[in-house]
Amino acid sequence: MHDIVLIKGDGIGPEITDSVTEILAAARVEINWIPAQAGMGAFEKTGNPLPEETVALIEKHKLALKGPLTTPVGSGFRSINVALRQKFDLYSNIRPARTLPGVPTHFGSVDLVTFRENTQGMYIGQERWLDEDQNQAESIAVVSRYASERIIRAAFEYAVKHGRKKVTLVHKANILKFTTGLFLKVGQELAHEYPGIEFNDMIVDNTAMQMVMRPEIFDIIVTTNLFGDILSDLASGLVGGLGVTGSANMGDTHAMFEAVHGSAPDIAGQGKANPTALLLSALMMLEHIGETEKAEKIRKALHRTLLDKNVITADLGGDGNTRLFTQALIRNMR
Ligand SMILES: NC(=O)c1ccc[n+]([C@@H]2O[C@H](COP(=O)([O-])OP(=O)(O)OC[C@H]3O[C@@H](n4cnc5c(N)ncnc54)[C@H](O)[C@@H]3O)[C@@H](O)[C@H]2O)c1
Repeated sequence: MHDIVLIKGDGIGPEITDSVTEILAAARVEINWIPAQAGMGAFEKTGNPLPEETVALIEKHKLALKGPLTTPVGSGFRSINVALRQKFDLYSNIRPARTLPGVPTHFGSVDLVTFRENTQGMYIGQERWLDEDQNQAESIAVVSRYASERIIRAAFEYAVKHGRKKVTLVHKANILKFTTGLFLKVGQELAHEYPGIEFNDMIVDNTAMQMVMRPEIFDIIVTTNLFGDILSDLASGLVGGLGVTGSANMGDTHAMFEAVHGSAPDIAGQGKANPTALLLSALMMLEHIGETEKAEKIRKALHRTLLDKNVITADLGGDGNTRLFTQALIRNMR
């Protein structure tokens, strides 16, 4: 029995987490879900969007499956997702992007995984005004050997474990010679430890173009925080968007699995939410805890379900809803 913290989240979060837990139960994965709160719902109930109790539960159980959380725009609390990543030192953001049957895309067959460094770089938002009138600002990007090494190693180790052939390190070392130059240098050094994995590097702007023109040349991409933020969404776009992309945030001791889309307030509570992205995240979680066979069984049933227009949700061009999708997937597992 696996103890896993479950944060249902805001908006469509409860609908898609209910769907996913029902599917996992039908596959007879033995999970003891530990409910915890975070996000807007938790803020409204307790005055704290990330209650201490939730932090303590994740600290203790080390694994969490999380629905999307609403972050207020402009004022209010800062992103809970970013806070959780920092609190548990979840330094790898891992996002597989794989073409799915029945999901329309502009591209052929895509199968790549993005590894984004989650703790440093431009994305962290170390910024300040340079004058009183706020007409000039600066942003500080810190990149360390330590943080570069652990994310690049995570990408190589994933390649070895999953039988992947190639790691592409993405940078802008021609211009940002210190920060992304260091990231590249560390990658070139580490590559010698993995002679069985092909290694190359690519400048970020060229990478964006190549991903759209020749996505099949990529296998694993490893990059710094802000480039990873952008390229991982680009990768999602290659395979049908955020509704069909799962993700994991992993550290050395803790891991959190979540859909990459938001809480979709426009369709919340209407039974229209597509559970695929959260389900794909849950399958990454099952692989992480060694339930590989059950993950594969669910994945096959998902592929079959996605071909049925009567059950899939409107965002995928279907006439179905969350309930029909969930029931059909469970039938397809039998
Ligand atoms: N990981 C997270 O928790 C996360 C990620 C992104 C945004 N957010 C938060 O979510 C809230 C809403 O953000 P947004 O509107 O910019 O993005 P969103 O991803 O919630 O929605 C964008 C569009 O995609 C649709 N959509 C998203 N997920 C869907 C699903 N599973 N099934 C069907 N349709 C789906 C929505 O209906 C909407 O039209 C904001 O508060 C934002 O901060 C949270």
